[in-house]
Amino acid sequence: MTFLFRSDAERGAIFAEAFAEALPDVPFSMDENDVAPEDVRYLLTWGMPDDLDRYRNLEVLFSIGAGVDQFNFDLVPDHVMIVRMVEDGIARMMQEYVLLATLALHRNLPAYLDQQRHRLWSPLPQMQAEERRVGVLGLGVLAQAVIERLKPLGFSLSGWSRSARVIDGVTCHHGADGLDEMLRTSDILVCLLPLTEETRGFLNADLFAKLPKGAALIHAGRGPQLDHAALTDALDDGHLSAAMIDVTDPEPLPEAHPFWSHPRIILTPHIASVTQPASAARTVIENIKRHRAGLDPVGLVDRRRGY
Ligand code: NDP
Ligand code: OXD
Repeated sequence: MTFLFRSDAERGAIFAEAFAEALPDVPFSMDENDVAPEDVRYLLTWGMPDDLDRYRNLEVLFSIGAGVDQFNFDLVPDHVMIVRMVEDGIARMMQEYVLLATLALHRNLPAYLDQQRHRLWSPLPQMQAEERRVGVLGLGVLAQAVIERLKPLGFSLSGWSRSARVIDGVTCHHGADGLDEMLRTSDILVCLLPLTEETRGFLNADLFAKLPKGAALIHAGRGPQLDHAALTDALDDGHLSAAMIDVTDPEPLPEAHPFWSHPRIILTPHIASVTQPASAARTVIENIKRHRAGLDPVGLVDRRRGY
């Protein structure tokens, strides 16, 4: 029952050490040419493997990232479990990123950076944190971690998910009606939704129009969720004030893309969060133990929902 690791060698070395210690009876390999394909029960990778049918005894396909939208579910046999990465390192980094972005937008950083470029020294009106309403799209593992980090700062917090949720100190909305209500009351909108057929193109002109005038966007979900032209239009006509964007479609953006130089966009190259190998290895090892004990792995994807 081999575990095949198909990602970068640096992280692989850390996984190999953790497996040798915690799961010595599961052979670990980083080289697909060095294993008998029929022995592979567990495969960890980022992209969709184009040779998946070689591994006819595969039981679990692990994503090395939190997202699984890179996999074509139709090409993964029904009996193979698809498992996304749920590990503390990703959550911690996402907390840092959204905290950074929320404070940057709350304290008008894009406008001050623009003023600096124009040698302009001009204080802007400043809202207090408790007056600032932060709405989070998605209330999953990462969104909830982020919300916990934002709470001590005093922002007024709300969130939106598919199913109803109860989170202390957070106004929770769900479904289509709940979405409109949350958008109406979000000065800073944070997207932490997975990419599915339902969320593709979700951040579009209609959605932006439902936000209060002067609202700002933090996008750390997936690139294809955002309509780029709708964002620049909303920024240019003054309906939105600024955006911090970590994910785009395509990645990287072409050289002439307007996001590179837009004065009210802060762009980062999909670095909001990165899987941390030591904690990720612990998670995967725990999941293999769960799987061998007949339990569902943590992060098991519901193929019908797409996440
Ligand atoms: P989870 O699966 O834990 O949470 C997803 C949340 O989105 C859930 O609350 C779910 O609702 C909600 N949701 C999904 N579809 C809909 C819908 N159609 N309508 C309403 N709510 C919906 O995911 P994570 O928090 O672990 O990760 C979220 C995403 O963050 C990843 O899929 C990935 O795309 C992105 N990401 C980005 C990174 C970066 O560096 N920029 C790094 C890591 C992840 P419900 O609770 O009802 O199921
Ligand atoms: C992830 C990512 O899904 O890096 O983990 O975006």
